[in-house]
Order: sequence, then C-alpha cells, then structure tokens
Amino acid sequence: MADTITIIDDRTGKKVTVPITDGVFSSSALRDLDPNLFMYDPAYLSTASCASSITYLDGDAGILRYRGYPIEQLAEKSTFLEVAYLLINGQLPTATELSTWQLNVTHHTMIHENMRKRFVDGFHYDAHPMGMFISAIAALGTFYDDAKDIFEKESFDKQILRLVAKVPTIAAMCYRFSQGLPFVSPNNALSYGENFLNMMFRIGDDYKVDPVLARAMDVLFILHADHEQNCGTTAMRVVSSANSDPYTATAAAAAALYGPLHGGANEAVVRMLTEIGDVSRVPAFIESVKDGHGRLMGFGHRVYKNFDPRATIIKKTAYEVFEVTGMNPLLEVAVALEKAALSDDYFVSRKLYPNVDFYSGLIYQALGFPVDMFTVLFAIPRTVGWLTHMQELLADKEQKISRPRQWYTGVDERAYTPIAKR
Ligand code: CMC
Repeated sequence: MADTITIIDDRTGKKVTVPITDGVFSSSALRDLDPNLFMYDPAYLSTASCASSITYLDGDAGILRYRGYPIEQLAEKSTFLEVAYLLINGQLPTATELSTWQLNVTHHTMIHENMRKRFVDGFHYDAHPMGMFISAIAALGTFYDDAKDIFEKESFDKQILRLVAKVPTIAAMCYRFSQGLPFVSPNNALSYGENFLNMMFRIGDDYKVDPVLARAMDVLFILHADHEQNCGTTAMRVVSSANSDPYTATAAAAAALYGPLHGGANEAVVRMLTEIGDVSRVPAFIESVKDGHGRLMGFGHRVYKNFDPRATIIKKTAYEVFEVTGMNPLLEVAVALEKAALSDDYFVSRKLYPNVDFYSGLIYQALGFPVDMFTVLFAIPRTVGWLTHMQELLADKEQKISRPRQWYTGVDERAYTPIAKR
C-alpha cells in the first residue's frame, strides 16, 4: 500500500496526491487544489506546526525521549545540567564539555543589582511569584544590548547561557521578596539544584542542602525540561518567529505556562487536595467532577492517553523525599483519589490518567515550597526546552513568522448607524 494520501475537491473534481512521512503529510498540498482553501483545526488538534528533532513523545505507549534518550534513563542516571546540554546541543557532552558547561552556567548566575533593588522591589508585597518571574525575565533582556542579536551564534549561545544560569536566581529572588527575606547570592561551589535550594531557603549560616532533596530537585528539573509542542513551547515558537529576543519570548512562554490548564495545574492539584482534605470525601469529590463541577486537576493530557511516564517517576521520587521530610498528609488523599479515578468508567473511558502535575506538587510542598511557587519551579527547567525550540526554529528554513488563518463567522458588511439611531 502506498504511503500517500489523495485529496479530491468535489466542487471541481481536482485532486492532489501527497506523500505521508511518519504519519504526517504537508497541508500545503491544499494550495494546489485551491489557494483559498484552509483547514479548520481549533487548538491544533490535528496539526504538526513544525518538524523537530528535540523530543519524541508517544502518547499511546507512554514514551518520552529527549534527543532519543528515554526519560527513565535520564532521570535515573543523568543530571539536569547534563540534560540541558543534551537538549541544547543534540548530544551528551564529553567530560570536558560537561565541566566547561557547568563552569559557564555557574559563572552566569548573578543578576544585576538593579533587577532586585529597583525592579523586584517595586512589586506589591503579595505579588504572585509567577507574575514576578514572567516580568523579571522580560526585564532581564533590557540589561543586555546583544540580546537582540539572535542570528549571531556566539551572541545567541550567550543569551541561552545567561537565561539557563539566571532563572533559578530570579525565581529565588521572587520568593525571598514575597517572604520579606534578604536575597541570598548564588554560590558557585554548589550544583544547580543545591544552589537553587540554598538561595531559596538559607537563613543564617547553618543551612545544609540534603543530598536526597537536591537530587529530587534535579530529577524534577530533568522531567520538566522539555515536552515538545505544548502550549508554552508553542507560545515560545510563535513569539520567536517574529524574531523577538529570547528574554521576551521566554517571558511569553512562561505566561502560557502560568495558566491552570498548563503549568499552573500542580498548584491547582495541591489546592484541590487541600480542599478535599480527607480520604472520606474522595467519592463525593469524584461525583462532583463527573457532574461537571470542575476538573480532576493533575489528570488527563492532550497527548498521553495511557500513562504519563513522568508521573510514574515522580511518584517514586515522592516517596524518596518523604523518607527525609516526613510524609505529606495530602499523599493519602492523592493516592485514594488516583485509585478511585482509575477504577471509574468516566475517567477510564476518556483515557484520563495522572499527569506530571498530580504528584509533583506534593513533593514541592514537602521540600518547603509554598504553593504559589510551583509553576515557577516548572518554568526554571522548561526554560531550557523553550530556548532549544527557539534555536531550532531560527535554523529551520521552512519556518516563517507564525500567522494562522481564520474562519470568519461574523456579520457581512453593514452600514454604520449613528449613535442616536441605535
Ligand atoms: N477531569 C475531568 N474531566 C476531564 C479532565 C479532568 N482532568 N480532563 C479532561 N476531561 C474530560 C473532558 O471534560 C472531556 O469530556 P467530554 O468528552 O465528556 O466533554 C474529555 O475528558 C476530553 O477532554 P478535553 O478537554 O477535550 O481534553 P484536552 O486534551 O483538550 O485537555 C487537559 C487536556 C490536560 C487540558 C485536560 O485533561 C485538563 O484540563 N486536565 C486538568 C488540568 C491538568 O492537569 N493540566 C496539566 C497537564 S500536564 C502538564 C502540562 O502539560 O502543562
């Protein structure tokens, strides 16, 4: 059987036959039939908007790979900075490449004093850290006059380095501001995850980062580093397609991530579990979701229709963290909720399974992060994925400025009525 598809325009009898490669065919074939013919695909359910060699995802089989490496192996054997190198450069680093990369990241973690003193200090005392984070990332770009040189490799690589290195510093700064705590400077002697925890939680001189918790942080960062064309990454690509600078584009991607259906879900999960409060109230909550009163947060995914491999790893990490921090009392509610949903036909028939956000919030909470910080914790590692996609997009000769078409369903031309006659 030929790997082609034939499209016939029944209005004219014209037809085109186009090849199918890896389950994809080029919709530009429609142009040959009629240049004014467009496909209506709200929310891009059937559209591949780009060709990408970064992340492979098979939703039915529950497979996630970065540059070909299974997420399970990376989570077990790698470190976040090594994974960041892998995503950005396409292959794992040699020992020398890795130590140079780590050294470079470590030496770009500082941010300009004006960012803290003038910019962050200007926020209202109870500003949401994610709102602060998004604005701070956009503001950061204004400190670098080479930020806009996106087609000069050396300059673009430097912006990648700056962003990857500085996002934890900005995240921690937003948190410390919201708590009224003094800012902790980055410590070059610590690993990426350790340094972040130190900047977040250090009070006085005796703070020691627990290695199990630092490793859990690193694993969570690895799991969140990329996830192909999700809402935030699509925002990154759309904004980058206008040749905006990487700081502005990252802020746009982070803004998309902020939404409760996307990266805000981990925050929503903990709020939901807190509201349920007790295992005895799980059945009533499940019934209320089925009756259309809200969604079961942390369940369901546009692509994963079997299981989310990240959720499996996170559940294991959660138990390792609880060994150190003590049990999160909401875990019992989460486990009961998961069990009830997975044996209920409403969720089973719609292929709704726990996603990455179902257990991550419980770990963050056990690590001491306030709920408001959860989406920021997602944005830190995802910055690597966003920048990798921007880099790929800028090198892709088939890409242009993103400009979808619409199906106009409004009224036809009509004459303006003077206000007195309306
Ligand atoms: N709880 C209850 N019902 C749900 C849920 C849920 N979490 N998710 C989907 N459904 C139902 C939905 O009502 C619909 O039912 P029906 O066919 O009767 O109208 C059906 O399942 C299909 O839903 P959909 O909205 O068409 O699915 P989608 O692919 O557009 O949405 C989703 C994917 C992740 C937005 C959605 O499952 C959801 O809202 N989940 C809760 C929020 C969440 O956990 N988000 C984190 C996603 S993973 C991290 C990330 O990528 O950011």
